[in-house]
Amino acid sequence: VVQEIHIFPSLDSTNAWLLAQPNHCFGICLAEEQTAGRGRRGRVWQSPKSGNIYFSLRWCFEQVPAHYACLGLVVGVAVAEALAEYGLEGQMLKWPNDIYYQGQKLGGILLQTAQPLQQVVIGIGLNTGMSLEAGASIDQTWCDLSEIMQQSIDRNRLIAAILRQLIPALQAFPQFNLPNFKQQWQRWDWLDQQPVQVDTGRERWQGIACGLDEQGQLQVALADGSRRAFSSAEVSVRQL
Ligand code: BTN
Repeated sequence: VVQEIHIFPSLDSTNAWLLAQPNHCFGICLAEEQTAGRGRRGRVWQSPKSGNIYFSLRWCFEQVPAHYACLGLVVGVAVAEALAEYGLEGQMLKWPNDIYYQGQKLGGILLQTAQPLQQVVIGIGLNTGMSLEAGASIDQTWCDLSEIMQQSIDRNRLIAAILRQLIPALQAFPQFNLPNFKQQWQRWDWLDQQPVQVDTGRERWQGIACGLDEQGQLQVALADGSRRAFSSAEVSVRQL
């Protein structure tokens, strides 16, 4: 299904590059560094040339999928499974789609829809060679796969594992079934049954995270016994 693979020494952002190529349905773009790497919620994704993975895939669904809001969760699970295939143990997903290892961020996922809307660019950033020096300006606690595994990372092998997981997951996504997916999600759900604080920008909520609701939103049990669900667009979550 993948038609083209483009690898650049340097780009502003692999997501931005694919978004600007309307004829590259099913294209892949990788860069050794990004000068304007983007994270979720308008943040910068520090993207030095130090052996990390900056990867984007443009995918075209035949129609706008019914469960589009769950796509990021599906991509997260594919990356977690690919890391397992590569030999890592202990990776977790922090809802909606941060990749964590022992409480530190190992990677992130940024989805951007293109025009027409059934096209999406899936961006994956993974710290596979982030030196202390290169990562000094990152404003979250982070970790690096080569440090964790005590060996240099074969990025080609890891990216191949990601594609082996991701492409079948995307092909199956139009028939997405949330009850089935919930079981898969639970295996990687780092926040499950943990105390969390959810910030919506206007309000701050505290409670116990308890998995996904029927739309793939994060469910939080509040102190008064009620449950509230949060969509990924509206909130940032941290473990307490
Ligand atoms: C996040 O956790 O905030 C998401 C980070 C996503 C980073 C990747 S790196 C490849 C692709 N290109 C970008 O500019 N961002 C994504």
